[in-house]
Amino acid sequence: MAVYDVLHADDVPEGGSALVRLEGREIVVYRVGGQYYALNNYCPHQGAPMCAGLVSGTTEPAGVYEYAYGREGEIVRCPWHGWEFDIKTGKSLFSERTRVKSYRVEVRDGRIGIVLGERGTAP
Ligand code: FES
Repeated sequence: MAVYDVLHADDVPEGGSALVRLEGREIVVYRVGGQYYALNNYCPHQGAPMCAGLVSGTTEPAGVYEYAYGREGEIVRCPWHGWEFDIKTGKSLFSERTRVKSYRVEVRDGRIGIVLGERGTAP
């Protein structure tokens, strides 16, 4: 496991994202509610760049004839075919088995670090 210092915390505005290249891969760092999350810049469907995806919310369970919109800023929509993913986990909104690879993020002394090589992530 290694932590790679990639950005200053101020490089990613609230609700925004930043693309970094790290050890041969592209990773998108998102800032949601003051927390940072990192997803692979590669959609598991056909490889679209997730950095070009719209960040928004989604509809939530509601009663009949009701419309409930929520989770604003927590969902990224793939720019090619619209699959939606939870920025905080990388999981798709439609299947437990489909996800964008995510990485743990550590923030220390105003610097953002991405952790590679943890169990479940590629070294
Ligand atoms: S490439 Fe992302 S949904 Fe198709």
